Amino acid sequence: MMPLKRVLLVLIALWNSGCGSTTHEEPSRTEIASDAEAAIASAKREQPPFEEFAGTEACRDCHEEVFQSYLKTGHAQTLRHAYEVPFLQGLDGHQFVDELRGVTLHYHVSGERIEVSIPERFGDDRFELQYALGSGAHGITCLTLLPDVAGGTLGIEHRLTWYESDKKFRLTPGHRNLEAVQDSEMFGRIVHRDLVGRCVSCHATTSRIENEEIVDLIPHVGCESCHGPGRAHIRAVNEGKPDLAIKFVADSWTPEDEITVCAECHRSEHEIPDEVIRTDELRIVRFQSVGLTQSRCYTESAKAFSCATCHNPHHKPGDRSGTAYEAVCIDCHDGRTERETPEVRCRVSPEEGCIKCHMPPVEILPGVHFADHWIRIRERDDERLRALDQR
Ligand code: HEC
Ligand code: HEC
Ligand code: HEC
Ligand code: HEC
Ligand code: HEC
Ligand code: HEC
Ligand code: HEC
Repeated sequence: MMPLKRVLLVLIALWNSGCGSTTHEEPSRTEIASDAEAAIASAKREQPPFEEFAGTEACRDCHEEVFQSYLKTGHAQTLRHAYEVPFLQGLDGHQFVDELRGVTLHYHVSGERIEVSIPERFGDDRFELQYALGSGAHGITCLTLLPDVAGGTLGIEHRLTWYESDKKFRLTPGHRNLEAVQDSEMFGRIVHRDLVGRCVSCHATTSRIENEEIVDLIPHVGCESCHGPGRAHIRAVNEGKPDLAIKFVADSWTPEDEITVCAECHRSEHEIPDEVIRTDELRIVRFQSVGLTQSRCYTESAKAFSCATCHNPHHKPGDRSGTAYEAVCIDCHDGRTERETPEVRCRVSPEEGCIKCHMPPVEILPGVHFADHWIRIRERDDERLRALDQR
């Protein structure tokens, strides 16, 4: 039995020589990738200097109402310490049999540490689960930071994920076909050092990774993730300046500006490989900004609407009724002819049910649904794919 610390170092050396964990096959169109894989396609987010940020709490003083409704959104809980998550605290004494690998993971909770052991392989050695990514609206996956041999930091995306749909702890998406080259990959997938910073940066307002720790951290997708760093704004307000020095001041931004900000994390079409931007590709439904900008509603309306047309960015999406979304569709598709682009009425159902037929929830994993933001006539997908394949 090899002590866990040594196993991890061996593992890390292997990974750096290019033969770390491998998948048996490319993820098929029916197998959704984990966010670690999705991260591979994502560009680095630009981060202004830490000193320019004021922190989410600082906005509360003057924007209490927005702050209170923001707290209920998924954005307010995207990156927590594992021990802050109630269900993880409740794991003490639980075991999970990983049938694919023939081992049992044992969970231990003591004080602020959540740990996992695999006694049949590593005896009493324990592996800590440090951070919890995801609010739980769909799921929560833990991430642990470890040193790599070159003095950098890599991550281990834990083997198991909490799924809100059936309130169960199951294999993390994308891990089914993962071969464990090393025993210690039993705890999860290695996220290479270039990628782990990106995981954290999409789940935090600002962050930097240094010596296996996240420093200069403002956790979660806070106000300043979208509005930009706020110190200059607070100064401007206090000094009574006319320029508020903040993004998204009423009427001074375009829908395209806004989608560009959301796309830093919800992905833009430039960073998603062409073969993923297809109607038969399940992964596309997780990249709402990519889907929406493919739709003819967006391209043929001279980019006249944005995410905020349907989602108040400070509210939970579930707070809105289906008819509120449909009012947005009907506002354009009412058949009025005086417009420059007279959007047509639906021949099948011109008054109701738009979302369920043109933007339905798509099941990407058992019980896990995402609304498909590529608004389209789905009955024409075969034609669309044939045209793509002939190119
Ligand atoms: C000292 C009080 C104060 C603080 C702190 C403050 N703001 Fe403001 N903010 C204002 C005032 C005053 C306005 C202009 C009047 C209004 O629209 O509420 C404003 C306007 C805004 C607007 C534009 C609203 C519009 O007119 O469209 C945004 C966006 C905004 N603030 C975001 C933030 C964020 C994000 C933070 C935290 C980093 C923050 N504010 C902190 C006082 C403050
Ligand atoms: C810094 C990265 C980042 C930015 C910028 C960002 N998001 Fe998100 N968004 C996330 C993450 C991470 C989640 C997952 C939250 C969770 O775990 O529930 C999310 C979730 C959401 C949800 C579901 C929220 C819920 O309460 O269930 C909506 C809607 C959403 N984002 C819309 C937007 C819009 C609109 C914009 C731009 C105005 C935007 N996001 C900008 C990272 C971001
Ligand atoms: C390019 C930005 C980006 C990167 C990189 C990224 N995420 Fe996310 N993550 C998001 C967004 C946006 C959402 C919300 C929408 C969605 O679920 O796709 C999200 C959602 C999640 C969720 C909630 C479950 C779910 O599917 O909604 C978990 C868990 C998660 N991410 C974990 C991770 C982990 C672990 C990593 C790194 C190994 C990572 N993410 C890297 C942007 C990112
Ligand atoms: C996911 C991105 C995102 C986050 C997070 C976010 N905002 Fe906003 N905010 C926007 C966008 C986009 C608009 C413009 C919306 C519109 O015009 O409909 C906006 C508008 C505003 C406005 C002016 C209009 C209004 O609703 O009052 C204020 C003030 C504001 N935000 C403050 C905040 C504060 C304070 C926080 C944190 C508690 C915050 N925002 C978090 C994206 C965001
Ligand atoms: C800003 C205006 C606008 C909004 C909002 C809008 N659309 Fe569209 N939509 C258009 C335009 C413009 C076209 C292309 C010309 C046409 O077919 O009328 C289009 C095309 C379509 C098509 C045909 C797509 C194809 O692939 O041929 C469907 C279906 C559709 N819209 C449904 C919807 C639904 C459902 C909603 C709400 C979820 C919606 N639209 C919201 C403007 C809009
Ligand atoms: C029961 C499913 C269903 C519902 C509900 C529905 N649609 Fe459709 N819609 C379709 C189908 C199928 C087509 C393609 C019909 C055809 O080939 O002419 C279509 C076509 C369209 C088109 C393209 C029309 C054209 O002639 O190019 C638009 C725009 C559209 N729908 C908008 C909407 C809007 C807006 C709503 C809600 C008020 C809505 N649809 C509700 C199924 C539906
Ligand atoms: C035409 C209306 C419309 C627009 C525009 C729109 N959404 Fe959505 N969005 C929806 C609907 C409908 C749902 C699913 C119902 C719900 O959760 O309330 C949804 C849900 C979501 C979710 C939660 C994940 C899920 O599917 O449960 C995220 C994240 C999201 N949207 C992000 C975005 C982003 C980012 C943009 C801009 C690029 C955007 N949306 C633009 C209608 C829209």
